[in-house]
Amino acid sequence: MSKVVAIDGPAGSGKGTVTSIIAKKCNLVTIDTGATYRCIALAALKKGLTLNDKKEIIELSNNVNIEFTEDGKVYLDGDDVTSDIRSKEVTKIVSQISSIVEVRANMVALQRKMAEGKDVIMEGRDITTVVFPNADYKFYLDASLEERANRRHKQNQEKGIEMTYEEVVDNIKKRDYNDMHKEVGSLMRAEDAIYIDSTNKTIDEVVEEIVKVIEGE
Ligand code: DC
Repeated sequence: MSKVVAIDGPAGSGKGTVTSIIAKKCNLVTIDTGATYRCIALAALKKGLTLNDKKEIIELSNNVNIEFTEDGKVYLDGDDVTSDIRSKEVTKIVSQISSIVEVRANMVALQRKMAEGKDVIMEGRDITTVVFPNADYKFYLDASLEERANRRHKQNQEKGIEMTYEEVVDNIKKRDYNDMHKEVGSLMRAEDAIYIDSTNKTIDEVVEEIVKVIEGE
């Protein structure tokens, strides 16, 4: 039987960083589910679609080809979009794209398929509640808004993404609200998920806490 480690939490809670470290330590395949929604947002932008073009966006999500490679690259219809999906333009619309129920159904099916037959660590917003409610290990990673904005701002600077601190705070606030008020797949704490507040914790401390649970120490 393959193993599923599921981690949910809001933007900037550290899920991405922690997940990739744990994946290496514990020999698990990483599935960044946010990247699948980001691919749809990017594909929509490339086609010149706006958030009003719901039918066309759903159509797009029926037909795109999204692939993750073992070295952490993301391919959309054969093109390497690893950096493009992190752009400011994509980040601005992705939460609304991910609110479209039909898009979610397609992405959830894709995410489950990506995990088939593998030992995976999967991070997102609805992994512990919708994608894999029966995952072997479930975590909810959280941090204060200020700390999450600081982290995301720093990450953006490292990646050369130009967003002011105020823009980051504003984007995170809007995404938090939208991510928590979706018709389907809203971000919420599953009752049986282990809650970790990482505001005053280092990445290593959070990693250690999770690894202890999944390795049963
Ligand atoms: O984790 P992220 O910032 O890359 O996610 C991008 C957006 O996708 C985020 O605003 C919420 C959405 N998302 C979602 O609705 N469900 C998931 N499982 C993962 C992400």
